[in-house]
Amino acid sequence: MISKITDCTTLNNNVKMPWLGFGVWQIENPKVLNFAVKTALKAGYISIDTADAYGNERDVGIAVKESGIPREKLFITTKLWNARQREGYDAVLRAFEASRKRMGFEYLDLFLIHWPIKGKYIEAWKAMIKLYKEGVIRAIGVSNFHIHMLQDIMDQTGVVPAVNQVELHPWLNQEPLVQFCRENGIQVEAYSPLMNGHIREVRELNDVAAKYGKTPAQIVLRWDLQRGIVVIPKSVHENRIIENADIFDFELTKEDMEAINSLNRNKRFLPDPEHVNF
Ligand SMILES: NC(=O)c1ccc[n+]([C@@H]2O[C@H](COP(=O)([O-])OP(=O)(O)OC[C@H]3O[C@@H](n4cnc5c(N)ncnc54)[C@H](OP(=O)(O)O)[C@@H]3O)[C@@H](O)[C@H]2O)c1
Repeated sequence: MISKITDCTTLNNNVKMPWLGFGVWQIENPKVLNFAVKTALKAGYISIDTADAYGNERDVGIAVKESGIPREKLFITTKLWNARQREGYDAVLRAFEASRKRMGFEYLDLFLIHWPIKGKYIEAWKAMIKLYKEGVIRAIGVSNFHIHMLQDIMDQTGVVPAVNQVELHPWLNQEPLVQFCRENGIQVEAYSPLMNGHIREVRELNDVAAKYGKTPAQIVLRWDLQRGIVVIPKSVHENRIIENADIFDFELTKEDMEAINSLNRNKRFLPDPEHVNF
């Protein structure tokens, strides 16, 4: 049982990754970002998920340093933006170095291809492999990859991504992808786990939440953990940052897990990665 905020999954290269992380997409205001990241670290989160595209890598680095927590106690993820992927191999290498410098860290824990760009992601993956071999990133992975895309990079490079970060929540449970990743040693990480703020619309969660004395958000985050999925909720409010981390003292029954699984509608709030035109 996953029973504390510092509990980790072991990735396919033996690196430990915390089950719970803090997402910082759409936190653009530096003061708000600084407050949110420091509040999350104070609440015990030890993993932060950012991206070049979020425009806040520098501010994440500053907040981490100001927190006083030693870098090696934390797990920091960032992502390769699509424009750099389109520019090719050398641009990927440069993009990583730029992200690393902006954050002010000697190394990063996880670097992800943010979205699959057809005809470009294999080259990007080869550049990521080079960075990994150089030791500046502890693990490399992808984001928004469908099964056939994962199969493609594995077939063409022989290197299995450590992580696939995808949109995943009660209306998009991604069961076939989760199954495929499980079989291939790829850790699934759920983004937009609270449906980018639409969680309250899932009325069925209210009864489950009342039964456990928890909130719908906590029920969903616990459902992720019990499926073996890393989860990275975002909030700028102290009470919610704490609430979203208070998910380690209860266990959903098999029946309640299945009830949440059955809410699937294959509904996406973000674009289908099959058609990336941004
Ligand atoms: N790889 C990708 O392409 C990708 C795409 C999207 C997201 N992500 C990552 O995943 C992270 C999380 O996804 P997300 O930011 O889309 O959304 P999310 O975590 O699903 O939901 C965040 C929204 O829910 C609200 N919220 C937070 N805690 C709540 C609670 N306990 N009860 C009710 N509402 C709550 C937040 O509002 P307040 O902030 O006002 O509290 C915010 O509007 C991102 O920050 C990012 O790191 C990655």
